[in-house]
Amino acid sequence: MRLFKTDMYNTPDTRNLLDHTRQGVIGKPLDRPEGPLKVSGSATYSAEWKFDNCAEGVLVLSTIAQGTVETIHKQPVLDMPGVLAVLADEAMTRRSTQGTAGEAPVQDVHTVEYFAQPIALVVAENFEQARDAALALKVDYAISDEPIALDPESPDAEVEDPANSEPVKGGDLDQAMRDAAFAVDVEYDTPGHASAAMEPHATIAQWDGDHLVLHGSYQMLSYNVKEIADCLSMSPKKVRIIAPYVGGGFGSKLGITHEAVAAAIAAKELQRPVRVVMTRQHVFQTVMRRSETRQRVRLAADATGKLIGLGHEALVSNLPDEDFAEPVTQATEFLYSGENRLLEVKVARISRMTAGSVRAPGEAVGMQVLEAAMDELAEAAGIDPVELRKRNMPDKVPVEGTPYSSRMLAEALDQGASAFGWDQRYATPCQRREGEWWIGMGMASAARVNMLVDAEARVTLKADGTALVETDQTDIGTGSYAILGQIAGEMLGLPIDRVKVMLGDTSLPAGAGSGGSFGAISTGSAVMRACEDIRKRIAKALGCDAEDLDIKDGVASAGDDSRALTDLLDGKDFAETGSIKPGKTAKDYSQASYGAFFAEVAVNAFTGETRVRRMTGAFGFGRVLNAKTARSQCLGGMVWGIGSALTEELAFDLRDGHLVNHDLAEYHVPAHADVPAIEVILLEERDAAASPLQAKGVGELGICGAAGSIANAIYNACGVRLRSFPMTLDKVIEQLPDPFAKVA
Ligand code: MOS
Repeated sequence: MRLFKTDMYNTPDTRNLLDHTRQGVIGKPLDRPEGPLKVSGSATYSAEWKFDNCAEGVLVLSTIAQGTVETIHKQPVLDMPGVLAVLADEAMTRRSTQGTAGEAPVQDVHTVEYFAQPIALVVAENFEQARDAALALKVDYAISDEPIALDPESPDAEVEDPANSEPVKGGDLDQAMRDAAFAVDVEYDTPGHASAAMEPHATIAQWDGDHLVLHGSYQMLSYNVKEIADCLSMSPKKVRIIAPYVGGGFGSKLGITHEAVAAAIAAKELQRPVRVVMTRQHVFQTVMRRSETRQRVRLAADATGKLIGLGHEALVSNLPDEDFAEPVTQATEFLYSGENRLLEVKVARISRMTAGSVRAPGEAVGMQVLEAAMDELAEAAGIDPVELRKRNMPDKVPVEGTPYSSRMLAEALDQGASAFGWDQRYATPCQRREGEWWIGMGMASAARVNMLVDAEARVTLKADGTALVETDQTDIGTGSYAILGQIAGEMLGLPIDRVKVMLGDTSLPAGAGSGGSFGAISTGSAVMRACEDIRKRIAKALGCDAEDLDIKDGVASAGDDSRALTDLLDGKDFAETGSIKPGKTAKDYSQASYGAFFAEVAVNAFTGETRVRRMTGAFGFGRVLNAKTARSQCLGGMVWGIGSALTEELAFDLRDGHLVNHDLAEYHVPAHADVPAIEVILLEERDAAASPLQAKGVGELGICGAAGSIANAIYNACGVRLRSFPMTLDKVIEQLPDPFAKVA
């Protein structure tokens, strides 16, 4: 073992190694190696691990929005069959977090700050007993007589500047609006969203002396270890988390949630393993939500459609003292021209569960609104929406002056438009009717910031000519197993079936975790660097320079010299740990993934129901590491775009603050019949500033603007310009034109 270097990514790695290797597996649409385990039900998810003597815990949630817990009537419940304990520890009610170990506030157990905040855990011999007892538990509250803000628009909501971001100000936006040949000044709103991951949050906790092992469902294990340790006032070295398979997260598993802390406390108290699985209703009510937003967009364009001014101001919400504020204007900062600008987010302090990262925090809602407003500008200026975007691609980031690392926006717009048949679109609404349906087309740009974060991985080239990749990186359904194996296979010249990938265990080197679309490029870069060091050792054994080395199918060669790896290894293993840390490239370049969405919708002329008929997305995000998993990410994002445009919305009861639609029956994610044929075009690009892989993040790109293209298609179909997402039929029907009007 050697100590790894500090591997700050300070200068773009322009060697482009992966275009000079020979195996040919990188980028290929290879299947996910764990796929058969998952579809056959034999991959073990967190709640499914078997332990002898495992007790079952069920969380108890508050039934008031604000006040204090006075008495928990434990005894009657402790007398119920099988009940082992009723626990109400102060650490248990800690808010779910963002991966912000040591910074998130620990709440006083007696204080309830939102409806359905976990306040206790009931543990019993089996789940039914625990659930029965949890429902029977009587809790007395003192309801606060302080004014409660249950909604960001409430006069009692305090509105603050976010802790972690500054407004972007440049020039004089008001003057630009006055000078504009075409101006748009509009206000949109977007509702709260639930991550709605398939697998509910679940943890099994088990103690071995003072060491804690959690089998849980989390996205960022090395962070999560620190969080749990912080919560329980213990050393992170004594915590291990095991999570080889995670059934989706979308941000809701970035930080630890209540069930993990509760299970750990209960397992210690009872000296036996304890499993806590959140019900679907618990997940909806307690884990992080995406903030609802109110957004004002101002666009000032000159006579040619070029933006001279751009305003994007948003009101979002969170609990008091929470640092996270949905970064709505994140992509607005770099996407379009307009030196006169004001981009600003304010946060209203309200009594709802924590607001945090939900797939593409910022862009998901910011882009859909910006792109809908751009459609309004295109119409006002009489310029084709695709052309309007192309006229507004700045040379450098406005105000900041940062150069772009690489940007395939124009290519995505052109190729998407051509594949979709954008030239078939009528420029004005209500031109195309099929029976009782108005047909329309809309488009939007896609953009999402790129992030490289700290990651480590160990790669071992074994004496038998196979390779092992090890890191605590998670695979939340995104393709980490496949991608990391492809990087190692490509670098070490091994067919993919000779590479094994082990993930999701904090006893392995700390990967990036899954979040912010940074998992594959960050942990993948660490794998690549480990492989580079192994290649040096192979070159040395072969007696050549690393630059002259070729490896394919387990045979190393340089010039006329050629030997099998197994021969060169001579019974030994070559193991190296690679690492990467963000460095100067992150500041020197504006890095983002780009794309374009095109949607065709049918809007029912009588009912206002919208059906998406087809969608095309074209995306450029640096090197494609696996064309199948990348396509799946884009596709999934676009499906979420359909939900954001048409159905998804957290609905709170403003009398008591409870979440009304706290299950998948009432929170409407798109189901099969809602999702049409979706075409995904992957553009080839290299971005040396983004990562040594020359790849950028793609996990979240597919949602960033997708809903805007659908909103714009609704307008193009029937002339209904809604500024409130989701665009449900009750909103559409109010503005529908006469269904019997003659089509022009
Ligand atoms: Mo993502 S919302 O950072 O998991």
